[in-house]
Amino acid sequence: MGEYPVYDDGVYDAFDVRDERFRAYGDAIAGSVAGKVVLDIGTGRDALWAVAAARAGAAHVYAIERQPDVAAQARSAVADLGGRVTILEGLSTGIDLLTPAQVCVSEIVGNIASAEGAVAVLADARRRLCAADCLWIPFRMQTWAAAVSLPEGARTLAAEGRPYVDRVFAAVGRPFDLRLCLGGPAAELLVSSAALVESLVFDHRRAPPDTDEVASAQLTVEAAAARMTGLLLWSRIAVSPATSSREIDTLSGGTRGWAPVYVPLGATEVRSGDRLDVTWRRSTSDDGVHPDYHVSVAVPGAGELLVWSSPHHGGGFRETDLHRELFPS
Ligand SMILES: C[S@@+](CC[C@H](N)C(=O)[O-])C[C@H]1O[C@@H](n2cnc3c(N)ncnc32)[C@H](O)[C@@H]1O
Repeated sequence: MGEYPVYDDGVYDAFDVRDERFRAYGDAIAGSVAGKVVLDIGTGRDALWAVAAARAGAAHVYAIERQPDVAAQARSAVADLGGRVTILEGLSTGIDLLTPAQVCVSEIVGNIASAEGAVAVLADARRRLCAADCLWIPFRMQTWAAAVSLPEGARTLAAEGRPYVDRVFAAVGRPFDLRLCLGGPAAELLVSSAALVESLVFDHRRAPPDTDEVASAQLTVEAAAARMTGLLLWSRIAVSPATSSREIDTLSGGTRGWAPVYVPLGATEVRSGDRLDVTWRRSTSDDGVHPDYHVSVAVPGAGELLVWSSPHHGGGFRETDLHRELFPS
């Protein structure tokens, strides 16, 4: 969800669930917007955070939504707030504000934190739309990685996902090896320690994240002996900078908004104590917003590097065993 302009009521209904994500955003907004000019980037069908900000006493809320039909629904959602919310239709990167925002709220955090284009979109907002002392909600978004053993037979595409997959293919213009998330409890499938591969903070007190980034990380195999089949990548979100507020760890499955991405690498035997060297590369795709990813893993004694290339929209179709299995024709 979220990496392509494909949303439907099922997706927006999931955002309305009173879960960890909903509570964390609600609390962060309630504690910070009184008397402030607030910008909500990607307000969605129900303008959730814009409504929360207006109710918490924001001086004014500018809420931007790129999809015209969704912006129209958002306008209805704020109709009874006495004009304290202005819904602006279009991409945030093409909109100007007369008054710089003092609080910038967004939920364009991907299953891989940067996958929905947050680096490009929020860097633009920081440059053009926000005051220098702007407060950022979320404050920090990260992507973590760990090795995983996915049992044979666990690899089926959820039936309810099929129509959505077809719409993503239609949006891109053809089928391709799209990124896939694991449903159900995923933490128990890990066979290694976890490591941070990207950490994104937009606060003006530090330099903005680079659009393209290379990072390395080490994972240590913790299972006695395991058949590693790939990596999991998942996001952790510090919605508020307050140390007292709990970070959302999407591996825990406590929210319907996110799930871990499964990176298929082919089965490889690993042993307890093995050190796996991970190289992570994020580069902006030719749409200027959504990243392409390239991950390689060196496993002791395995010879060749295990490699995952995942362009946002330019990749091939049925190039991995997993995609051939899930998309047989
Ligand atoms: C993941 S949804 C979040 C919706 C709502 N804010 C929430 O948290 O429940 C992201 C929304 O942002 C919109 N969006 C993404 N990037 C945008 C951009 N650069 N400018 C305006 N809208 C954007 C999408 O169309 C979508 O409605």
